[in-house]
Amino acid sequence: MIHVNQSPPAPNGTRVVITGAVGNIGRGLAPRLLAAGYELTLSDLKTVDGLVAEARFAAADVRMEEGLQTAMVDADVLVHLPALHGIHAVDHTETEFWELNVNGTFRTLQAAITAGVRKVVWLSSQAWHESNGVYGFTKVIGEQLLEYHRRRHGISYVAVRPASLVPWTDWARDYGRGLLYERVDRDDVLDAIQLSVDWVAVNDGGLVLDAHHPDAVQADDLRDWRHDPVGTADRLFPGARAVVERFGLDISAPPVRPRKLGWTEVGYVPSRNFGTWIKEVAGLSDDQVRARTSDY
Ligand SMILES: NC(=O)c1ccc[n+]([C@@H]2O[C@H](COP(=O)([O-])OP(=O)(O)OC[C@H]3O[C@@H](n4cnc5c(N)ncnc54)[C@H](O)[C@@H]3O)[C@@H](O)[C@H]2O)c1
Repeated sequence: MIHVNQSPPAPNGTRVVITGAVGNIGRGLAPRLLAAGYELTLSDLKTVDGLVAEARFAAADVRMEEGLQTAMVDADVLVHLPALHGIHAVDHTETEFWELNVNGTFRTLQAAITAGVRKVVWLSSQAWHESNGVYGFTKVIGEQLLEYHRRRHGISYVAVRPASLVPWTDWARDYGRGLLYERVDRDDVLDAIQLSVDWVAVNDGGLVLDAHHPDAVQADDLRDWRHDPVGTADRLFPGARAVVERFGLDISAPPVRPRKLGWTEVGYVPSRNFGTWIKEVAGLSDDQVRARTSDY
């Protein structure tokens, strides 16, 4: 891993191409990058209504040669998103995972080199740590492909490893409680990716960025939490007892993650965790909570 000091954002007019731009992360990222002064090319299998009008669109299947060169024209930075996820493991074969997540990444990196694009933000995952599953394993291989292309072809990259930001159905049980465990707020992940684009546009090297929420709990609190989860939660986050009992939340001991790779380098400061959610939900009525729907 090569670390370079944080630098100011790239100048206006830097062109970013986003592959897989029509998905969850792409739809959130595109308006942010435009607002920050980047020029955009959006690429996906096909266009859909509702994409930002100011961006160019170029259709491409990242598993194939054709289309990718057109998408890369004039690009300075590639943000590569297409992947099958863990949830697809039940109805997609290992071969399909390999073809999109591994071959699709390799082919797109090769196309980037041909087109002269040397800066890459690639979406890895916290599933990188679960490499006995096909999804996590393809993320391990993907990060190795980035490192290979850095050494052999001089690309610079950030591999962003988000926790889960799948759309939620129940704001209290899926989102709020989830912030104790494997969920991260989507805006925090979009911050992480935007900061990664800023970083890679003006720095050289290879970086891994953990895009998860800040720990709600410190290691010293965990013994108390195991013994008395609700009481400990209420001591750490005043009002938590009422919220936990109101929604019948099971809050067994959460993980404490020491890993914060890349946070300092890109300036990532995630803002939402279980404690911030407790403050937010405490002031809302049951009807207001029920009315919350995932807007992505
Ligand atoms: N959403 C999460 O919770 C999460 C968590 C961690 C990591 N990630 C990673 O972030 C990345 C983006 O996730 P997302 O949630 O936006 O995914 P998504 O499934 O919502 O979007 C993926 C996009 O890729 C496109 N795509 C699929 N096959 C393609 C192909 N052959 N060629 C071109 N485009 C193709 C799809 O049309 C879709 O628009 C993925 O690499 C994923 O592994 C996501």
